[in-house]
Amino acid sequence: MPKRTIAEVDVADKTVLMRVDFNVPLDSNSQVTDDRRVRMALPSIQSVLQRGGRVILMSHLGRPKGEPDSKYSLKPAAKCLEELLERDVKRATDTVGQDARSQAAALQNGDVLGLENLRFHPGEKKGDAEFAQTLADMADIYCNDAFGTCHREHASMVAVPEAMAGKPRVVGFLVEREIKYLSDVISNPARPFVAILGGAKVSEKINVIQKLLTICDHVLVGGAMAYTFALATGGRVGNSLVEPDKTDLALQLINEAGEKLKLPVDTHCGDDFSGDCNKQVVPAGTISDGYEGLDIGPETARQFASIVENAKTVVWNGPMGVFEMPPFDAGTRAIAEAIARSDSTSIIGGGDSAAAIQQLGFADQVSHVSTGGGASLAMLEGKAFQAVDLLDDC
Ligand code: 3PG
Ligand code: MG
Repeated sequence: MPKRTIAEVDVADKTVLMRVDFNVPLDSNSQVTDDRRVRMALPSIQSVLQRGGRVILMSHLGRPKGEPDSKYSLKPAAKCLEELLERDVKRATDTVGQDARSQAAALQNGDVLGLENLRFHPGEKKGDAEFAQTLADMADIYCNDAFGTCHREHASMVAVPEAMAGKPRVVGFLVEREIKYLSDVISNPARPFVAILGGAKVSEKINVIQKLLTICDHVLVGGAMAYTFALATGGRVGNSLVEPDKTDLALQLINEAGEKLKLPVDTHCGDDFSGDCNKQVVPAGTISDGYEGLDIGPETARQFASIVENAKTVVWNGPMGVFEMPPFDAGTRAIAEAIARSDSTSIIGGGDSAAAIQQLGFADQVSHVSTGGGASLAMLEGKAFQAVDLLDDC
């Protein structure tokens, strides 16, 4: 059921409590190193301001332990938002304390107030009802635009909208867009539908691989994950990153999947984790002792690219190799180029694949780059999201 969006609510003279995911990466000087999550939330914030409403933003950052911890302050994210919005953003020093409540009550139309990190309060992760009620009492409308956190059932995601029953409870434009690509497009895909899965661990991707095998025409597996598959079929993996306790699972997938599952036929390896190590390209499953797999090999890259080029729908989650360290970016780059050449609806999962597509310069040549890591995987798996389900239907 499609969800009512912030565009469909009269926000004039109203206070909108908006859950965003400003869990952005910071460098050692507390500077935001990737502002995508903030930028992607701008349309919903601007829409409320332009229509004469007021916005209270709430988010988490990192994983503080239920008490204030200055290294997880949302101050850098608020500064970043201020620059992008080109207007002042008020900041509260707490979430449900005196400062937050009095600033919330004093808001004027056109104002934006950022609360401090929700996880500075133990009530957030516990889904505490009293904590949620205090937040709920600050506003007239609830808006969830925190896609990256939609798989969590924390207070700001579930208990707060529950406490606001009877008031409008809607999705923002970012969540609307993520659902469109990660759920709607996938449930009715143009074919061929190709999934590309990489990254380090089979264990993290097992559910999504199983799900995608039921709906895709081809599932291509690269990244370190592929070495666990090679080990499972009796291959030699040298010093590669593997999960030896997951080989049964890998074998089971190979047997279930048949022709749909495409594993690498060759591997680009090195004798050290560095760009200037000694390098070898070897057939998959024949990595020498002292070497580790760091990328798919060139023949695999060609085979995968030709499948991807002809796709009409592509989902990509996880790089093919160590894309941050040339020349082991070649496999990931070949996939990115093939997606760019294809005439497909292309959906890039969050986390490492989003970073790879940005770093390689192809982000504007794909249909959608998700802002969610765990959330994008959970949505691809078809998991129910309570944080979205309880919001108003269209
Ligand atoms: C993320 O980056 O995965 C989201 O912001 C959710 O954060 P969490 O994994 O700490 O809940
Ligand atoms: Mg996470």
